[in-house]
Amino acid sequence: MPAGESISKQPRRWSFNEDTDYEALDLPKESSYQGEEENEVLDVKMRQEDMQNKRLDPDLLPKAVSKKLSKYSLNKRLVLYVSPNKESRRVVINLDKELPAVVYATESIRFEKDQKKILVVSDDGGGLGLILAGMEVDNSPVSKDRNFYYFIDDSNTEKLVDRNIYANEDTILNLDLIKRKEIVPESFDAVVFQPESYVGKATILEQMVQIKKILKMGGVIYMLTHKKSGAGSYQRMLEEVFGADNLQPVKVGMGGYRLIKASKEDQEIPEVADLHTTVDVSILGKTFSVETLSGLFSKEGLDNGTRTLLESAKDSIKSAKHILDLGCGWGAIGITSALVNPVAKVDMIDIDHRAVETARKNVSKLGINERVTVYQTGDPRGNIRDVDLVLSNPPLHEKDNLLVELFTSTRSVMLKNGEVFIVVENAYLGKFKRILKTVFGSATIHFKPGNSFTIFRSRK
Ligand SMILES: C[S@@+](CC[C@H](N)C(=O)[O-])C[C@H]1O[C@@H](n2cnc3c(N)ncnc32)[C@H](O)[C@@H]1O
Repeated sequence: MPAGESISKQPRRWSFNEDTDYEALDLPKESSYQGEEENEVLDVKMRQEDMQNKRLDPDLLPKAVSKKLSKYSLNKRLVLYVSPNKESRRVVINLDKELPAVVYATESIRFEKDQKKILVVSDDGGGLGLILAGMEVDNSPVSKDRNFYYFIDDSNTEKLVDRNIYANEDTILNLDLIKRKEIVPESFDAVVFQPESYVGKATILEQMVQIKKILKMGGVIYMLTHKKSGAGSYQRMLEEVFGADNLQPVKVGMGGYRLIKASKEDQEIPEVADLHTTVDVSILGKTFSVETLSGLFSKEGLDNGTRTLLESAKDSIKSAKHILDLGCGWGAIGITSALVNPVAKVDMIDIDHRAVETARKNVSKLGINERVTVYQTGDPRGNIRDVDLVLSNPPLHEKDNLLVELFTSTRSVMLKNGEVFIVVENAYLGKFKRILKTVFGSATIHFKPGNSFTIFRSRK
């Protein structure tokens, strides 16, 4: 395997290292990361190639310096494998240098003496658990009877995390794996949760509900997130589950990271089903009722951007034969299109299984399920093709390369001359223009009603 190949295959969370725009991070100046005695300058802009070669050989890495961060700072390196397979090479992570904001955020987590059993929920191959357990070693003797458990949900993650724990056994203490079936209610003193935006908000809400169940009374959840991945809405969801009075922002800033703490002060476990609401929608001369769900996009009703997208593309909707609603949420675009054009075949797709379930319910209640099908992304039955109109209010926060992939696979199911209309907030204009141009060759502004959002149109 050529040097660096393992880098590009890093799991999503760790790929942040290479892509991080350090200039854009509102972190303390570089100099504040320098040691007092060691006067090594942290060259955060080390050339990527250089970095890739060095990180494969720990002896080539400069010594990590973190003295000024705080006394709890993790002055060590981690070895992280990015694949459970034995043949993949190890990758050395110089934490203070490569993930200063994550280290800075996790440093603010202070466990009480009697908080002994701590669960880590993150999808980073063990990284967050290793950082926390590594910091504990520095904090001994408190750490002796404290144990961290890294939550795993499938056998591949299990192998990878196991491999990473083993690779760092000299550096960390008391970190074990725990499977869903081994977790009992009311058994943890604290949970450190790093939501992964790609699973969808409704799934994240469900995770929060589960976390409240497994916490002891008085137990705490620390949520580590980033403003670019939707920190604001995760905070509102945490309020919904734990109660607004029990929330406390711990650290805000750090280049966009947010560390929010909530405590379990009551036994009320909201059933996710209870968080459904019914809303009435009126658009393009049609009025209908749908069910929405906490955590789904625009659960209060039709989003303004989506409304403008539908209104501005109405002629294309009326004449299309096969419409695709990409990222359907509770179904706003697909359902409206099917009602406005009573003969079109409509497919809807979303990555979030709670969105898919909700959209399916709505389609079925409205009696349009003969022509309208809802798929979850990756569903092998979703053999969609010959689409002549794609409509989307896309996930704005996703990384460019994932969006390019998403639109490239969408383009492949379209007929020649098929149209795509998308709505984007103006802050993301440049990003989506670039993405559409990359995939479709051009992107025209179809409608720009004001300062808030824009409708783009492309053609295959
Ligand atoms: C901005 S919301 C729009 C929801 C709905 N279409 C509306 O207008 O109300 C974007 C939706 O895209 C979904 N999504 C995110 N990544 C996706 C992916 N890779 N494939 C399909 N859907 C995705 C999200 O779960 C979310 O429901």
